[in-house]
Amino acid sequence: SWTTGNVIEEQVEAIRELVGDKRAICGLSGGVDSAVAAALVQKAIGSQLTCVYVDHGLMRKNETEQVEKDFVAATGVQLKVVDAEERFLKALAGVSDPEQKRKIIGREFIRVFEQAQAEIIADEGPEVAFLVQGTLYPDVVESGGGTGTANIKSHHNVGGLPEDLEFKLIEPLRKLFKDEVRMVGQELGLPEEIVQRQPFPGPGLGIRIVGEVTKDRLDLLREADAIAREELTAAGLDRDIWQCPVVLLADVRSVGVQGDGRTYGHPIVLRPVSSEDAMTADWSRLPYDVLAKISTRITNEVADVNRVVLDVTSKPPGTIEWE
Ligand code: XMP
Repeated sequence: SWTTGNVIEEQVEAIRELVGDKRAICGLSGGVDSAVAAALVQKAIGSQLTCVYVDHGLMRKNETEQVEKDFVAATGVQLKVVDAEERFLKALAGVSDPEQKRKIIGREFIRVFEQAQAEIIADEGPEVAFLVQGTLYPDVVESGGGTGTANIKSHHNVGGLPEDLEFKLIEPLRKLFKDEVRMVGQELGLPEEIVQRQPFPGPGLGIRIVGEVTKDRLDLLREADAIAREELTAAGLDRDIWQCPVVLLADVRSVGVQGDGRTYGHPIVLRPVSSEDAMTADWSRLPYDVLAKISTRITNEVADVNRVVLDVTSKPPGTIEWE
């Protein structure tokens, strides 16, 4: 019968046999799947695994630290962090179109990841032969099923494969569903913040700023997003909502008042949704007092934001993200 213990044992054995005395690389995104895949492979082959984390500067507050510190502490994994914030910001300068942003972020990501791979091979030699992927069962079905679902947004999943792939793949989660992956992660001792993380798009906050992406805007959005997440967690609502994008309308300003002065600041949009699979979604009926608290804190604590609005659109017709 299925137990997380069995799955781990089985995979560890299979991975050991497959890899032998060769080496493997795994890209970490901060998400559940890549973290659990890496932890499993780490358990199997230890220091024969090197993980790569590309910091594109588009993560939320504390997420990079969670990977750099907490994940490493929990697994003992050997981690190479590439600080590519400046490179991504430069590539995104002047770009407002959502699909353009996705393409740029996906392209830069692959370039940075490939460069990191080349450096690891230079350090560790040609025995680097395997690439670990956090592919889940639903991903396998989706890409093999050929059902031809319409591609409404070009989803660049961070961790996307380089095209001239010479590595063999290790996909230890291929038979698992998301909730099973979380159980395996828990059993492997990964931090709660990583195991229970809600979906977060590969292009990160880059597609949650309506308008051009700049460092100042990212910092502002990070603050607002951290407040919203903190209050949702404090209210015990994390399991009730699927995810809650927090969006900065960077090109919109509206008039407000503070003390005896007029303000002219940006709106922040809260987009809490409930969903089963992200294909359809409904807006979450959050308690008014939680919304009030989030709104008060964001307008008080985040400079240049003088309005918080709630998105009450289902999907369809709205998508979950604003871009
Ligand atoms: P939408 O906005 O299309 O989002 O309703 C559906 C789900 O996908 C996530 N999402 C993305 N994930 N790269 C990703 O890896 C992307 O470009 C991307 N765009 C949207 C979104 O957060 C939601 O969970």
